[in-house]
Amino acid sequence: MTSQDTQQQQRALLDNIPDMAWLKDRDCRYLAVNTAYLEILGMPERLVLGKRPDEIWPAEIAEVYLRTDRAVLKSGRRRRYEETRPDPSGTPRWFETIKSPIRDQAGRIVGTVGISRDISERKAAESELIKSRTQLRELSNYLQSVREAERARISRELHDELGQTLTALKMELGWLKERLPSEPTLLRTRVDRLVQIVDHSVADLQRIAADLRPMILDELGLVSAIQWLTQNLSERSPLAIELSLDRTDVAYSKDVSTAAFRIVQEALTNIVRHSGATSARIVARHSANELQLDISDDGRGMDVTPSKRERLGLIGMSERAHMLGGSMEIDSAPGRGTRISVRLPLSIDKPATAPSP
Ligand SMILES: Nc1ncnc2c1ncn2[C@@H]1O[C@H](COP(=O)(O)OP(=O)(O)OP(=O)(O)O)[C@@H](O)[C@H]1O
Ligand SMILES: [Mg+2]
Repeated sequence: MTSQDTQQQQRALLDNIPDMAWLKDRDCRYLAVNTAYLEILGMPERLVLGKRPDEIWPAEIAEVYLRTDRAVLKSGRRRRYEETRPDPSGTPRWFETIKSPIRDQAGRIVGTVGISRDISERKAAESELIKSRTQLRELSNYLQSVREAERARISRELHDELGQTLTALKMELGWLKERLPSEPTLLRTRVDRLVQIVDHSVADLQRIAADLRPMILDELGLVSAIQWLTQNLSERSPLAIELSLDRTDVAYSKDVSTAAFRIVQEALTNIVRHSGATSARIVARHSANELQLDISDDGRGMDVTPSKRERLGLIGMSERAHMLGGSMEIDSAPGRGTRISVRLPLSIDKPATAPSP
């Protein structure tokens, strides 16, 4: 094979690459460029070979090329970076460039080899994805706060309207009972039954209203609401819940109270439903600008690989924390119990707003 054949084969190899590809010597002068390079540059090969980037590219682009070439020559390391450059119509396009050193047989660096790929479509898709994720998050936050407000309204109306009606009914029945003959009669038994039904209805009503949104949260605050929640759950299940609060005198904003309460509520519901734990512990720590909540159990634990947990409870908890600029971490493994740590910054008090269109 002649050296001309070899050259032609190398040329064919270079031209077959759809991305821009080139070789440069130690002085950053072009030794070879492929067809894709020449097409983008819009110059014939004879005007490029032997030149340096600052002789063929606009100054600000050439400055980047020379700087990165020199960095590769100096470090002897491969470099990868993303750059933006306008196309002939002036539209900015994104490129991913990889540059590596070329060494001679003695291992000395004699130049660089590079390849540059147009990644504008990927970049556009990425920013579209980020935009739509942000919009989805805003929408989910908005729906969350609307749902919370609606629950609070229904809870209050049930309590105030229907609660008042049942109380009035009970008083009327009491009045009636007082006027009935004292010996047991069928009528007296029926009135007693009615009083019982009203009492049951009041209890049901209070339970439903509290499940929707416990009034204690708005009236007495987060700490009382968490105390109520744990007591309520301890009565309904065999789970022993230990509660440790370092401060009980702090008034949290409505957003923080709601998020913290709902997170603790979902975590405890999960413990009862999934963990098989005998005991759980809630630790709330308060610092100047943060509320930290740790909810742990001694149950069966879980696999925390994201694909393994696609249900909405944990996602909702994490979103609530995120919405306030906080974070949530799950520390768990099968057989090792579960610990959920949440941090909620206290400074941000964002009002619920409709997502922008
Ligand atoms: N404390 C826990 N101990 C063990 N496994 C848990 C615990 N918390 C959650 N899990 C596991 O993680 C999964 C996801 O929980 P998540 O709250 O997201 O959904 P879910 O409770 O199944 O349904 P929902 O959407 O009604 O809350 C559960 O199905 C359960 O397998
Ligand atoms: Mg759940």
